[in-house]
Amino acid sequence: MSTSKIISMKGNEAIVVLTCYDSNMAKILEEMNVDIILVGDSLGNVVLGYDSTRDVTVQDMIRHTGAVRRGAVSSFIVADMPYKSDETNELALMNANALIDSGADAVKIEGKPAVCKFLSQNGIAVMGHVGLLPQTAEDYKVKGKESKEAEDILNMALELEKAGCFAVVLESVPVELARRITDALKIPAIGIGAGPYCDGQVLVVNDILGMYDEFKPKFVKRYANVNEIIKKAVSQYRKEVKKGEFPSDEYSFK
Ligand code: KIV
Repeated sequence: MSTSKIISMKGNEAIVVLTCYDSNMAKILEEMNVDIILVGDSLGNVVLGYDSTRDVTVQDMIRHTGAVRRGAVSSFIVADMPYKSDETNELALMNANALIDSGADAVKIEGKPAVCKFLSQNGIAVMGHVGLLPQTAEDYKVKGKESKEAEDILNMALELEKAGCFAVVLESVPVELARRITDALKIPAIGIGAGPYCDGQVLVVNDILGMYDEFKPKFVKRYANVNEIIKKAVSQYRKEVKKGEFPSDEYSFK
């Protein structure tokens, strides 16, 4: 997988993207032919226990990007640039290089076309992100319902394409706006809460597996309930240890 292969998938094949934060899950996603693995700064909410993605640091992203790369040796991996890591062009370039060195093929930035352009010009593959931008959003409502905001989002997506981004994430926008943006772009639009007309879809892996139940946005479909499976296993283990049933001879050395 490469940025040119990803761009060539537009209009031909839906692009499957999932987030990932650790090595074991990365191995599974690679085995299941997920097209792009995103080490999202949703790491903060679903793994590190923060209320916001704003608490995630570059060091956190480096550590988890490295873990994902060790599990998914040949996948295309995008790492999120965390909050304030891209405040100036030079800071962004230094942090993006650190994420690439830790195993990412590309970085993702929320908005900021000028920074995206600077990174692209310096050889970094960049994925854009428009619509709801969690690092700076005041609320988690759908964006672009009003025509002025819709035009702003469309224009931002076009600017990001011009800045050299190879794909753009559209987060929490109405279906028809997502369709307009997807049609207007030459690069793939990857939707999350943006309806079915995007060139690909991204979701948080912990959400689709039912491993994160603090908050379930409307656009999340649960494909499994892993929390329930874990609870059953832990409860059984606890019961057996309390009763002295585990470890039996089968699990003991003679
Ligand atoms: O951090 C993240 O997981 C993301 C996706 C939700 C697009 O940015």
